[in-house]
Amino acid sequence: MADTLPEDFRLATRHIVMERDLNAAGNLFGGTMLAWLDEATAISVIERIGYSDFVTVAMDNVNFKAPGHRGDLITFYSRVVKTGSSSIVAETRAYVEDHATGARREVITCRITYVCLKDQQPYAYFKSPEYAGWRARQTQ
Ligand SMILES: CC(C)(COP(=O)(O)OP(=O)(O)OC[C@H]1O[C@@H](n2cnc3c(N)ncnc32)[C@H](O)[C@@H]1OP(=O)(O)O)[C@@H](O)C(=O)NCCC(=O)NCCS
Repeated sequence: MADTLPEDFRLATRHIVMERDLNAAGNLFGGTMLAWLDEATAISVIERIGYSDFVTVAMDNVNFKAPGHRGDLITFYSRVVKTGSSSIVAETRAYVEDHATGARREVITCRITYVCLKDQQPYAYFKSPEYAGWRARQTQ
């Protein structure tokens, strides 16, 4: 497929664009795309850090590159860019992929920052023994 992704991007999720996802002009509604992007990135982050109690704090560099259309199969790929104490930044790119021809069209890119919480407060998960323990178990 064209437009090769760096290899640290991993498949996060897929969606098919349905009639209900379209805006008045017949394109994929941007708000729906952002919700899918947030969900895909959160799934990817959960898989990579072994923790799921976090909130979205910022979405940066949102770049709608091409419209989505009814029937498009949209695939989301994501990678971790950096971790702080409680925060993690991930980059996600989505493509419309034609599995018959192998063609791929980039539709959106974005960076999302999440903040880990414990008892509803920011939690320095990436400095915690909990995270160190999770990482150690991944290499066993
Ligand atoms: C996310 C939230 C808990 C952060 O609270 P806060 O008092 O600003 O927290 P802190 O100042 O202690 O910062 C915590 C971390 O968030 C990061 N952060 C805070 N605001 C940020 C922003 N706008 N962009 C990027 N990172 C940010 C800080 O850099 C810090 O990172 P680190 O621990 O890795 O160094 C709070 O802003 C919040 O609850 N926001 C609403 C979240 C929400 O409802 N999201 C939508 C649904 S998921």
